[in-house]
Amino acid sequence: MSFYSLTSSIAAATIFITLLFSNSQAQLNSSFYATTCPNVTTIVRNALQQAMQSDIRIGASLIRLHFHDCFVNGCDGSVLLDRGGNITQSEKDGGPNTNSARGFGVVDNIKTAVENSCPGVVSCADILALAAESSVSLAGGPSWNVLLGRRDGLRANQSGANSSIPAPIDSLSNLTSKFSAVGLDTTDLVALSVHIIGLLC
Ligand code: HEM
Ligand SMILES: *[C@@H]1O[C@H](CO)[C@@H](O)[C@H](O)[C@H]1NC(C)=O
Ligand SMILES: *[C@@H]1O[C@H](CO)[C@@H](O)[C@H](O)[C@H]1NC(C)=O
Ligand SMILES: *[C@@H]1O[C@H](CO)[C@@H](O)[C@H](O)[C@H]1NC(C)=O
Ligand SMILES: *[C@@H]1O[C@H](CO)[C@@H](O)[C@H](O)[C@H]1NC(C)=O
Ligand SMILES: *[C@@H]1O[C@H](CO)[C@@H](O)[C@H](O)[C@H]1NC(C)=O
Ligand SMILES: *[C@@H]1O[C@H](CO)[C@@H](O)[C@H](O)[C@H]1NC(C)=O
Repeated sequence: MSFYSLTSSIAAATIFITLLFSNSQAQLNSSFYATTCPNVTTIVRNALQQAMQSDIRIGASLIRLHFHDCFVNGCDGSVLLDRGGNITQSEKDGGPNTNSARGFGVVDNIKTAVENSCPGVVSCADILALAAESSVSLAGGPSWNVLLGRRDGLRANQSGANSSIPAPIDSLSNLTSKFSAVGLDTTDLVALSVHIIGLLC
């Protein structure tokens, strides 16, 4: 295993999150929880900072989870769904995620903190989006107002995870088409291919 400065550059993560979400989710807005959970951004950030005390890598891992969520059936939290019940093939167990996606326990802790203040209000998909922004800004990158109002999906799409998330062996044309499928262009692809945070195994 080699330590590697990985991930999207922090600026690149900003571009990704901003473009991806403004394109496909035009109805989202940053005041979605203004009356129902006004402190949600702070609650997420505080819970994340607490997790960072014992796991400095967690921000990188949460950025990647948000990315892997959004590339499959939109940013619907489906990457978080466990196998069981009517979910026979989770995205977690798909090739791009199994043995590499991490941070699920921290997402659960953040969700619990949010639920304690605003039960049944904030979607897991929005928590991932907020956690990704806080991860970037707490790492010293830019901050931005996260557009909110995503709804959580009830089904996972493992074959979609296998086929839609970029793989290290993908050719340039494979990568271009996978980014294009979520409204990202080649400039976004180049920017986001520079991994400068996290761990590459
Ligand atoms: C361009 C295509 C991409 C490829 C082929 C790729 C591939 C990978 C691979 C192989 C890893 C290591 C996983 C492991 O074995 O633990 C990784 C980690 C990571 N990727 Fe990417 N990635 C891409 C794009 C992105 C994008 C768009 C983002 C975010 C916006 C991102 C964020 C990250 C982060 C933060 C990590 C580190 C996670 C951690 O340390 O837990 N990557 N990526
Ligand atoms: C944000 O979006 C929600 C849902 O569409 C809507 O109810 C709310 O009025 C919007 N807020 C603003 C400030 O646009
Ligand atoms: C939000 O946080 C402020 C302090 O920052 C606190 O006074 C207020 O009670 C909190 N509101 C809710 C709904 O938790
Ligand atoms: C899966 O089961 C849950 C309840 O356990 C239900 O709400 C959901 O609609 C089901 N999803 C599908 C795709 O059948
Ligand atoms: C997804 O990929 C994994 C690992 O390559 C494989 O085990 C699994 O069967 C694939 N799932 C689907 C639905 O194709
Ligand atoms: C699963 O993902 C693939 C690729 O992203 C997509 O073509 C397919 O429609 C998705 N399936 C479902 C049931 O959403
Ligand atoms: C890349 O794209 C080609 C042509 O569309 C396809 O045949 C191939 O399976 C793709 N490879 C990967 C790793 O997705």
